[in-house]
Amino acid sequence: MSAYYYYVTNILVVGSGGREHALGWKLSKCDGVDKVYFAPGNGGTHVNVNIPINNIDKLLKFALIHDCFTIVGPELPLELGIVNEFKKKNLKIFGPTRLATRIESSKIWSKKFMTKHNIPTAKFEIFDNYEYAMQYVQSTHHPIVIKTDGLASGKGVFICNDISKSSSVLNKMLQQKKFGNAGTKIVIEEYLHGNELSYIVLSDGDHMIPLVTSKDYKRIYDQDEGDNTGGMGSYSPANIDERIEKKLNQIMLRVIWSMKKMGRPFVGFLYAGVILHDDDPYVLEFNARMGDPECQSIMMRLNSNLYDYLNACVNKKLSIMPQLDWKQKHAVCVVLASDGYPNNYNTNETIYGLNSINDPDCFIFHAGTKKINKKFVTNGGRVLGVTGLGQNRKLAASKAYDLVNHINWKSKYNRTDIGN
Ligand code: AMP
Ligand code: GLY
Repeated sequence: MSAYYYYVTNILVVGSGGREHALGWKLSKCDGVDKVYFAPGNGGTHVNVNIPINNIDKLLKFALIHDCFTIVGPELPLELGIVNEFKKKNLKIFGPTRLATRIESSKIWSKKFMTKHNIPTAKFEIFDNYEYAMQYVQSTHHPIVIKTDGLASGKGVFICNDISKSSSVLNKMLQQKKFGNAGTKIVIEEYLHGNELSYIVLSDGDHMIPLVTSKDYKRIYDQDEGDNTGGMGSYSPANIDERIEKKLNQIMLRVIWSMKKMGRPFVGFLYAGVILHDDDPYVLEFNARMGDPECQSIMMRLNSNLYDYLNACVNKKLSIMPQLDWKQKHAVCVVLASDGYPNNYNTNETIYGLNSINDPDCFIFHAGTKKINKKFVTNGGRVLGVTGLGQNRKLAASKAYDLVNHINWKSKYNRTDIGN
């Protein structure tokens, strides 16, 4: 333990995915951190606490009793106001308040915010009426993108190449209400061509420190075919030059200052999903949290004490912190999923080959797994995030895929082009 720490803290990581495993894994190595709890965690995390992410009351009681510094992984508890409730009890918690989370939880709010503050984004229209939306899509050029206003676990976005696809999506959203409340209002936006990247910064509400760049693979099949998913793999760094990075920093600062002015200061990981269109960055979406599986690649590269930075954000002291220190290596994370994801898939299948790891440049982050009698079984759509480091992206990918080939279960599925 470092001599600087007179007081060590316990950490509570809220969530159960690969992102939460990666955050907790990194935090458990930090000076100043004692125990790391995961609520509810997964087969690869410990110590797990059996509290679901939407039970704010129970999470709060646990954090009070165990004197925890809390970090929130997924968007749902943020939208439910976990940060507001914890702050009322003077508990330290890293993440945005309910009002600040609006930047992710309502695509309409977020698009209007971007327009108002001159943040480049795709042109868009808003609808809550099926007939009007149909009239619009019949009169517009395809492809277009149709999005639910509310949260849909990354599954509420549809790229429509022709009218027949758009009308079937509009029917599902506005007629059949397949997305419930999340889809009663929708955004229809122009389709932008270009390469995507994820740009994530730490913010204390006033200042920011950027993380390294990363890229996420959203589609289920190789060559970016098929449905959108939560993310089938990631790598870091992404390929961008200084000019783009400067523009991205200007965008993020504009968001942070505008949110502060609006009385919704943003504390937490601020994530921009960016597309490079005509050589300029356009924001496709903001998230109020870390990306999954970007987090797995990013955490593998981080040298700095993550806890110090999260604490500095909560205490509004980010301006006195130095820039983060990173391994000058590339990281690639390959997500192993259950065949059928993002739709129907089997669970409870025994996973083999998890002990095959013996390399400090590799790590297997668990997501949809469960541990039963010392064995691991599948327990979700995205099951594992196998991550490798290397001197270049190709070497990092080959590290990760070597390990992927040693892991098996009956319905294992993964993309084969992550990092290509
Ligand atoms: P979102 O949740 O809004 O980031 O959308 C999920 C994914 O859909 C993005 O990562 C893109 O791959 C794709 N997408 C969303 N909006 C657009 C757009 N306007 N143009 C092209 N692709 C888009
Ligand atoms: N990987 C995309 C996300 O976390 O939203």
